[in-house]
Amino acid sequence: YKKYIPFRQIPLPDRKWPQNTITKAPVWCSVDLRDGNQALVDPMNLEEKLNFFQMLVDVGFKEIEIGFPSASETEYEICRTLIERDLIPDDVTIQVLVQAREHLIRKTFDAIHGAKNVIVHFYNSTSTLQRKIVFRTDMDGVIDIAVDAAKLIRKLTEKEVSETNMNIRYEYSPESFSGTEVENSVRICDEVLETLGAAPEKKVIINLPDTVEMCTPNTYADQIEYCIRNMKHRDSAIISLHPHNDRGTGVAATELALLAGAERVEGTLFGNGERTGNVDIVTLALNMYSQGVDPQLDFSDIRHVREVYEHCTSMKVPPRQPYAGDLVFTAFSGSHQDAIKKGVDAMKAHDKPYWEVPYLPINPADIGRAYEPVIRINSQSGKGGAAFVMQQSFGFQLPKAMQAEFGAVVKQACDEAGRELLPEEVYGLFSKEYLEVK
Ligand code: KIV
Ligand code: ZN
Repeated sequence: YKKYIPFRQIPLPDRKWPQNTITKAPVWCSVDLRDGNQALVDPMNLEEKLNFFQMLVDVGFKEIEIGFPSASETEYEICRTLIERDLIPDDVTIQVLVQAREHLIRKTFDAIHGAKNVIVHFYNSTSTLQRKIVFRTDMDGVIDIAVDAAKLIRKLTEKEVSETNMNIRYEYSPESFSGTEVENSVRICDEVLETLGAAPEKKVIINLPDTVEMCTPNTYADQIEYCIRNMKHRDSAIISLHPHNDRGTGVAATELALLAGAERVEGTLFGNGERTGNVDIVTLALNMYSQGVDPQLDFSDIRHVREVYEHCTSMKVPPRQPYAGDLVFTAFSGSHQDAIKKGVDAMKAHDKPYWEVPYLPINPADIGRAYEPVIRINSQSGKGGAAFVMQQSFGFQLPKAMQAEFGAVVKQACDEAGRELLPEEVYGLFSKEYLEVK
């Protein structure tokens, strides 16, 4: 097939809008093996995690959160296996999550020993609600927890780096950021950046999670923008998003927050994750692709990605999941089918270099899929439907007059059956009407 450029990449001369668009891909970090995995009824075993990890590498993820090694022996083992079997490509950084607690941080450093590139990702919860009912402390107490953890992480890193040639980077998440007063978020992030010795040439990832999505997407974007504008050490930070999808608007929130200036996104394939899931990276990436922006992830064989995902998670991708669901490149309506056919014919006739077909936001072939018209033979489908099935499925080109006559026969059969007919049943009617000797 011919690979087309998605049509919006061609600038329209009179285009006044949108004024602000996403023009380049963020740094992607897959948290499938951690946030996604922790939300599975049966978490992945070692073999499944390794299989999933390899697929993420093949898709092009350069940052992959592989788990929470201090949380269980299985998680620890998976981290060690990846390192000891040398399964991590040199250009891929593994990320490990840990709570801001001393014994867990020490165990995490044991787990990552010998890895080439690692992000140590630590977090504590900061929201007004969590402070009040879970930690029973004020903001100063929460800041102390983060700063103490940052001190220890810096100390352990400096020791490790002086003894080995490991490349260790830092990430801090004020968990439940979107439920925290923005001024307090800025305060805690600046304190952590200072403690970690962040600098423009040694940036620290500041990951601002929408741990529970409770507001409209613009609210999250505004919170991100506030931090970007007000953090003293903003130049020493990479601003990362970690949206969940409780209101079903995780993708929109992420897109707006990228427009607000964020540079990195943590999410999962097909939106697996706690409750309603993490933000779906496949949708985000292919939304960019549909706008002519190279997502820097390779979904040209989306069926393979989906197969590995379904095998390892025992979860099914829903039929209407954007880009990947079984039904998303089908057209049931006759008028849609007609418009698509005309679009494809026009592309061929004018040899257009870009994709411009009604009802199909991208060329399905670009992600290894195909457009499928679904012809439904029911009492509403008209003469065209029966003729189409006879042509597509059985190779009969019906003359115009016969189309009308046969359409009436099919309609009557549908009415009598009170349901749709299968193509074989349409053929049976055709055979009875025109092929059998009477
Ligand atoms: O959703 C969340 O806040 C998290 C953090 C641990 C980053 O998963
Ligand atoms: Zn999360």
